[in-house]
Amino acid sequence: MYQTLLPTASGGSSPSQVPAAKRIESFGVVGAGLMASQLALLVAEKLRVPVLVSDVSASRVTNAIEGMQARLKRQEAKGRLGPGEAAEIGGLIRGSIKPTEFRTCDAVIEAVYEELSVKRIVFRQLEESFASDALILTNTSSLSVAAMARGLIHPERVLGFHFFNPVAVLPLLELVRTPFVSDDAVRSASDLAARLGKTAVHVADTPGFVVNRILTRIFSEILAEIDKGADPATVDSSLESWGLPMTPLQLIGYIGPSVQRHICDTLHRAYPDRFHRSTSLDTVVQAGLPGFFDENGIVQPVAVARPSEPHGSDLASLRRRVREALDQEVQLMLDEGVVATSADIDRCMVLGANFPAGGLSRLT
Ligand SMILES: NC(=O)c1ccc[n+]([C@@H]2O[C@H](COP(=O)([O-])OP(=O)(O)OC[C@H]3O[C@@H](n4cnc5c(N)ncnc54)[C@H](O)[C@@H]3O)[C@@H](O)[C@H]2O)c1
Repeated sequence: MYQTLLPTASGGSSPSQVPAAKRIESFGVVGAGLMASQLALLVAEKLRVPVLVSDVSASRVTNAIEGMQARLKRQEAKGRLGPGEAAEIGGLIRGSIKPTEFRTCDAVIEAVYEELSVKRIVFRQLEESFASDALILTNTSSLSVAAMARGLIHPERVLGFHFFNPVAVLPLLELVRTPFVSDDAVRSASDLAARLGKTAVHVADTPGFVVNRILTRIFSEILAEIDKGADPATVDSSLESWGLPMTPLQLIGYIGPSVQRHICDTLHRAYPDRFHRSTSLDTVVQAGLPGFFDENGIVQPVAVARPSEPHGSDLASLRRRVREALDQEVQLMLDEGVVATSADIDRCMVLGANFPAGGLSRLT
């Protein structure tokens, strides 16, 4: 059984017997991409401790650090940070391309490519240079956290710590335990989540956890229509009445087609009958496009399938099919114990994907 909201201490100990959460006096971020930069900023701003950002690409580190400093200055100019705070927070963030520099960090989060083999290499490198009780966190969107921890000397300090984009705005953090994790590590991670101002919801270590499993099921239904030859812009408007913050195809562009394809692949491998592998999404990724639409909102010609016969889309019946698909997915998630109640799923969709109040339950 998974607890839903933290922080709490488990095990029935009296508060005086529960060890304190680990003090985090320096923090590491592996990767210098879209998520890693936002995570580094959040940690520096909320914890005010030194943050080391590392990547295999030196130019990515430089760009990320410059981008963070510029963002801090903008925040200060808008009055969201006090005078001098941009320089103070910016001064805490440092870049490196040497993973060994993480040796002094009390906790590190990886936000590298969404590929298990890459993440496993990163974890092994960290373990070689890292104190044995330092927390190792992964920002994976969909991969098995247990598969990353398995084979490490100290798998008990590994947890999934899944933030949502944009990190500064969305309050959800999916906290993922593995069978190996220690109570101390869970307590420390929960404390860290609270200090970062996030609402941690405990989720089982199942593909896509909650938010990405639900979003990808929606994408799956929409992309299947496009693959059959339906007009992308038309099917993309089918959920308009739900008042979602973005249409499905806009959201794929926002997440990044390549990251989303990795998530689709993971869910397709786990549940091939329900999660479609989309040729249109493949085409967009292979063409290196940032999404299905260009900057003017026009569908990229390469993303349009060439059907042998026209495929007409009845938007109301498509919306009904998506709704039925979501009902099925919610029931399966509850059966699998991903979370305890459907209210947890609603909360995750509101806090992690900015769905309207009430989450899935309100969508008809
Ligand atoms: N994009 C999103 O909206 C989103 C949201 C939540 C979680 N995530 C997850 O966060 C992670 C990162 O996603 P992203 O969108 O920031 O990706 P990204 O492509 O923007 O960044 C990935 C970075 O990892 C670096 N990298 C690759 N291998 C490395 C290694 N061995 N050591 C150090 N750095 C390495 C790359 O050079 C790149 O800079 C993924 O696991 C993704 O699923 C993404």
